[in-house]
Amino acid sequence: MTSLNNKQTLAHEVVEDSNPTDNIDFQTIINRRMNRRSILKGGTGLTAAAFFGALPLVGCSDDDDSSLPVNPSNDNSAAIPAQGDLKRPETLRFTAVPHSTADTMSVAAGYKAEMILPLGMPLISGIEDWKDSREQSAESFEWRMGDNHDGMWFFGKKGNAYDAKASENGLLVMNHEYVNSSELSPFGYHVIQDSNAAPIFQNRRLASDVRREVNCHGVAVVEMRRRSDGMGYEMVPNSKYNRRITSSTTAQLTGPVAGSDLVKTKFDPTGFQTRGINNNCGAGLSPWGTYLTTEENFLGVFGRGRDADQLNAGHNYGRERYGAIEDFPGWEYLWHTPDAKDAAIPDEFSRWDMTAVGAGAADDYRHAFNTFGYITEIDPFDQHSIPQKRTALGRFAHENCAYAPVEQGKPVVFYMGDDARGEYIYKFVSKATWSNADIGGGLKVGNKYLDDGTLYVAIFNEDGSGVWKALVHGQNGLDTSNNVLPFHGQDEVLVFARAAADVVGATKMDRPEWVSVSPITGEVYVTLTNNKYRGVSDDQPLSASNPRSYQVGDKARGNDNGHIIRWAEAGGDHAATSFEWDIYLFASPSDLSAENLSQLNDSNDLSSPDGLYFDPRGVLWIQTDDGAYTDTSSCMLLAALPGKVSDGSLMTTSAGQQTRVGMPASNDNIKRFFVGPEGCEVTGITMTPDFKTLFINIQHPGNSWGAVAGGSTPRSATVMITREDGDVILAESFDTVTTST
Ligand code: FEO
Ligand code: CA
Ligand code: CA
Ligand code: CA
Repeated sequence: MTSLNNKQTLAHEVVEDSNPTDNIDFQTIINRRMNRRSILKGGTGLTAAAFFGALPLVGCSDDDDSSLPVNPSNDNSAAIPAQGDLKRPETLRFTAVPHSTADTMSVAAGYKAEMILPLGMPLISGIEDWKDSREQSAESFEWRMGDNHDGMWFFGKKGNAYDAKASENGLLVMNHEYVNSSELSPFGYHVIQDSNAAPIFQNRRLASDVRREVNCHGVAVVEMRRRSDGMGYEMVPNSKYNRRITSSTTAQLTGPVAGSDLVKTKFDPTGFQTRGINNNCGAGLSPWGTYLTTEENFLGVFGRGRDADQLNAGHNYGRERYGAIEDFPGWEYLWHTPDAKDAAIPDEFSRWDMTAVGAGAADDYRHAFNTFGYITEIDPFDQHSIPQKRTALGRFAHENCAYAPVEQGKPVVFYMGDDARGEYIYKFVSKATWSNADIGGGLKVGNKYLDDGTLYVAIFNEDGSGVWKALVHGQNGLDTSNNVLPFHGQDEVLVFARAAADVVGATKMDRPEWVSVSPITGEVYVTLTNNKYRGVSDDQPLSASNPRSYQVGDKARGNDNGHIIRWAEAGGDHAATSFEWDIYLFASPSDLSAENLSQLNDSNDLSSPDGLYFDPRGVLWIQTDDGAYTDTSSCMLLAALPGKVSDGSLMTTSAGQQTRVGMPASNDNIKRFFVGPEGCEVTGITMTPDFKTLFINIQHPGNSWGAVAGGSTPRSATVMITREDGDVILAESFDTVTTST
């Protein structure tokens, strides 16, 4: 069994970071690769030895008031249900959940938390239940819940259609971000070594293990109905909507990159389709009622051998800018390595090898890497529909995708973060203007809003102002004059969006994770989870927007605990190209006085904020993916009632950087609502339209949380939270609806 400490230590190591023009980052990748290789080799010195271990795999890591103005567009937030009579509470009245490092989860008094939909649970009958021995077939996972549940959304359903107000019945759609290999295969983490092979093939995995892992990624669609006692939900077995989309499912490329030379592969030499969606992290809803999933750490499942001399220098740089240097075996997944004779479908394993080995792009998978890293749209109500990779929104390690409240006749705006150290925050402004008539129109409506528009990247100025720079070919230096990576067209700008953002001088952030937009103020919030390079690497100096770098005990210096930044677009217009920002909250242990700039206490202190969700009432829910404060408390979910930009004061961090900080925390405006079991990350969040059920996800729990009765293999799962009295979540805070507290 994997120990918690191992899991967390490794989690620190696998944050993908390749920004930019930054030799330190490249060196880190090389070091990491060498470390992995030496770990895998162990001390045997044998040329071909089977290695049985419990090496954990991680997809992305923990590393580390009522007087508010009302946004005029608030009544018009499209596919999100109206808030009805429920206004935002003025104060949080539940009793804070204490710190916990227990094997169990804890939720605020008066609430009930139940584990549902664990890894391996069959979605249809005729498949045997998950067994603790993990002997279920790789193929069967095409019809089971996958691993590491992440972002999700509850789609209310009436008849066969989406209904934003329906709560009796719905489709719960969720991401399966990555796999814990050692806890998934009956063999544990099994690698066959061959030190005579080319570097990226020196550790080879079993075909069945890779097939199982591929099928454990992606998205699950699960029809849920309210239980007969009126409390919570149960799966509708054999529903026609129950479906898995995996890293093997055919997906369509749409927008400016579709058909580009950069995405032509042996699988589709025309460059319009690819196989699989991967490392789906945060998620979101579109204003018209489809699911927007994201592709984050796709780097880790690809291998790259030596082929720089087969590529033009610009495209070689482009690959490296996304972490794929030569002789890169990927992370522990090694999906390209099983023996080709064991393939069940053409190129089942070789498609994960991006090395240019053939005569041209139609003969190999050199461009398969370029077909991942996109916001991907799925229509859960059309079980035969093909996932659409919306390339106009750029290619990077997408965390989630949050739309701004829509207004009739105005463009639709989506906000996104690129989660790696020193990466950027983006937004996409559609060319088409919004029409309420499009709600419920499915993927055709996605073609209208997501395939044509302008991608921008954010610059956070030191004085609290900010600007959006367009990533458009021919503008802002994005042309062939760029020596490092000459841009010949918009396809190159989008596939290599990070490199394009470098050119326009985007601000390097402390790992942008989830984005959410306040339905009350229209202000945009982004979690910056942590960054061990901040103030350490020469290329990531302190800035007002990333102002902390400190050392605690024998830990490495950097921004260990993270913060949450927010901004107000100029004139309240989400299509504006300037904004005003401040830092809503600094996460910190409450006893770390020099860093506790938001004045957190025992009831609300947190570290490494990650998941972020404004419910339609304007309550902000914050989730953590932490490795820095877990000796004191496991990862958690907090509820918060933020103010607005500029409601605080100027402060100076312990590193001497001045910045603008929001109003201090209090027990009225932020409080711990839930703590997960030891070793887990708390992520993914959605609420039913009647506000009576909150779903969250538990990723990679430690110990044996989620195991079947009598078993010991921990499993990721969903947690369903209801009030014991059946009232709405946070009912105790609403005078008008309080029934008990
Ligand atoms: Fe998958 Fe950045 O979290
Ligand atoms: Ca995660
Ligand atoms: Ca994280
Ligand atoms: Ca995350």
